[in-house]
Amino acid sequence: MTDNCRVVVLLSGSGTTLQAILDQQNQYCYQVVGVLSNRPDAYGLERARSAGIDTRSLDHKHFPSRESFDLELMERIDKFKPDLVVLAGYMRILSHAFVKHYQGKLINIHPSLLPKHKGLHTYQSALDAGDKEHGTSVHYVTEELDSGSVVMQGTLNITPADTAKTLEQRVKVMEHYLYPRAIDWIASGRITVEDDVISLDKKPLGPQGYRISEKSIASTE
Ligand code: GRF
Repeated sequence: MTDNCRVVVLLSGSGTTLQAILDQQNQYCYQVVGVLSNRPDAYGLERARSAGIDTRSLDHKHFPSRESFDLELMERIDKFKPDLVVLAGYMRILSHAFVKHYQGKLINIHPSLLPKHKGLHTYQSALDAGDKEHGTSVHYVTEELDSGSVVMQGTLNITPADTAKTLEQRVKVMEHYLYPRAIDWIASGRITVEDDVISLDKKPLGPQGYRISEKSIASTE
């Protein structure tokens, strides 16, 4: 993409994912230039300010429609001239215009092994389904919820002792390792997309993207 890829992060909550992205940016070729939230009280904004990053908040409750909110949000995002827009716990469904405007440069991280368990409460859904595996997916954003091409997945084995809480903790550790890395791979041009097929270093990846297990992440840290 570029040598120093300009990244704008959107969030709605505590921002632990943003923190991981910020903490690792020195070792990677992206640079967070702005953080925006639809919730003025999101703790993630505080984290960004502490790191000296420009923040904006735009309360969706003050807008008559999703479309009008997204239009204003797009204007504010574009002032940062981003190369990549990164969703990190951004809890709003995106309008058609928004997704179209950032097509190919909008990514998300979703706590499940897509296409399994789209939407909310993925940890409980995986347990209820009796899944042996769970994890997280970094994917490009398309209009259909949690459905774009998958760049990377982190996988873990579910144990009988796991609860939704323990799964969430384990997944978050993987996310904080994976997401900055995925952003770097996109920023550096190692990841390319053609006809919805994702390639890493010109080698096509399967529909689940580049897969890495909790165990191998633990052994690299
Ligand atoms: C992450 O677990 C991510 O998978 C999901 O939202 C969560 C955000 O957590 N999209 P935080 O606000 O960054 O702590």
